[in-house]
Amino acid sequence: MQAVDYELLERQVRALLEDERDFIANAANFAAFIYGEVPAINWAGFYLPAPDGLVLGPFGGKPASSRLPAGQGICNRAFAEKRTVVVDDVSTAPDHIYCDSASKSEMVVPLLVKGEARGVFDLDSPELARFGADDQAGIERLVAAFLEATPI
Ligand code: SME
Repeated sequence: MQAVDYELLERQVRALLEDERDFIANAANFAAFIYGEVPAINWAGFYLPAPDGLVLGPFGGKPASSRLPAGQGICNRAFAEKRTVVVDDVSTAPDHIYCDSASKSEMVVPLLVKGEARGVFDLDSPELARFGADDQAGIERLVAAFLEATPI
């Protein structure tokens, strides 16, 4: 696959969000933008803290699980450990929660504000091992740009 120009995507994200501070509006546009611009993904979106785990936020892709109970799944792992989690083959991850049987690999980036996790941004791919080191660094930059533009 051709390398993604994350620098260009970062400039576009900043332009997309610069005039708005509303969380729902920016999260919806961010998820739709990533879903449309990053190749070979079948879902991209937010999960946000709820009393018993995480609850679905704005996303691009097919309908997904509304609730991810605390302690279960890759999203909760990234949220609890406050670090990006990449899974090359979700069928080998015992704690993975399926939303779409087409998903083969996954990357989850926590939304870190002042050292606290305020949610996660999750990407799924229909390809095995879709997310390499460049993608991790690139998506983390895009999430950081989202957080700079958006109070949460
Ligand atoms: N696979 C995730 C659940 C969310 S869906 O991929 C959209 C997980 O294991 O947390």
